[in-house]
Amino acid sequence: KELVAGIDIGGTGTKFGLTDREGNVLSSSQISSTSQESFEEYLEELHAGLESCLAELNATNNGYKIVGIGVGAPNGNYYKGTIDDAPNLRWRGVLTFVEAFKQYYDVPIILTNDANAAALGEMLFGGAKGLKDFVVITLGTGLGSGFVVNGELLYGYDGFAGEVGHTIVDVNGRECGCGRQGCLETYVSAPGLVRTVQELLGRSVAKSALRKVSFEDMTSALIAQKAQVGDAIALRAFDYTAEILGLKLADLVAHTSPETIFLFGGLANAGDILFDPVRHYTEKFMLNLYKDRVKILPSAIGEQNAAILGAAALIWHDLKNIESKH
Ligand code: BGC
Ligand code: NA
Ligand code: ZN
Repeated sequence: KELVAGIDIGGTGTKFGLTDREGNVLSSSQISSTSQESFEEYLEELHAGLESCLAELNATNNGYKIVGIGVGAPNGNYYKGTIDDAPNLRWRGVLTFVEAFKQYYDVPIILTNDANAAALGEMLFGGAKGLKDFVVITLGTGLGSGFVVNGELLYGYDGFAGEVGHTIVDVNGRECGCGRQGCLETYVSAPGLVRTVQELLGRSVAKSALRKVSFEDMTSALIAQKAQVGDAIALRAFDYTAEILGLKLADLVAHTSPETIFLFGGLANAGDILFDPVRHYTEKFMLNLYKDRVKILPSAIGEQNAAILGAAALIWHDLKNIESKH
């Protein structure tokens, strides 16, 4: 049985799994993205991880094989198969991932930006089935974006289209991992929310359960939990985050006129605490032309497998395109 491996490279961990054409993840695992001595050693560990997923499946039912590998990565480039100096990765510089991984597999290997992969996953297996115009925004360690326009993923001239996380929202704003200041992702991301809470705590005397939380324990999940029970600082932090995101989404609507915007990733797990104010601000800042018709929705793929399926979708999507041309 033919399987496609999906690999999602993140700043802290790399998730991977073996998927079938119907969008089932048959086996999955993860490795650290930071603990190895070198990028080469990291690739070796990744290869070993994939092989044990395959061995696990073949232990009960022989005949599984990997026919393609799809990879989603921050600053991933579809045309070159490289990862170009990703702000949130330990391995900096230009990483020739596809070239290097060919030493292990003689099958098609396709790499793209992680949020682009998420958009393809949503299109093939999630809530974007049948949609021709939509945007996926991933809210994790960074902020990623994937644009589907007229039914096609947008790559642009050099393959780097859709780096919305590094559009500047405040020229004198927060320091960003990309070396500049005031990028959207320094506000709207899991660490961005934490930074907002820390600023608010320093500036206001409002009562908040978050005052007692140590620096290491302060996470976006904890802040979401406190917001659910009405914590004033946590709620204000979400409102501030949503206002900045809403302003950006209202602009994005003017660029490509999507039918739906999907919010993906850790921060999107906060649910209504995030979605309600984001919908409010997006509508507020949007040009009249578009009002009351753009849907803002969570991903329809369960968080656990979304990234793996998205990466694998790169291969399934291309296979489908190839088949439909014959
Ligand atoms: C990177 C993007 C990526 C996003 C989410 C950003 O810092 O520049 O390429 O999509 O993080 O991982
Ligand atoms: Na992108
Ligand atoms: Zn930046």
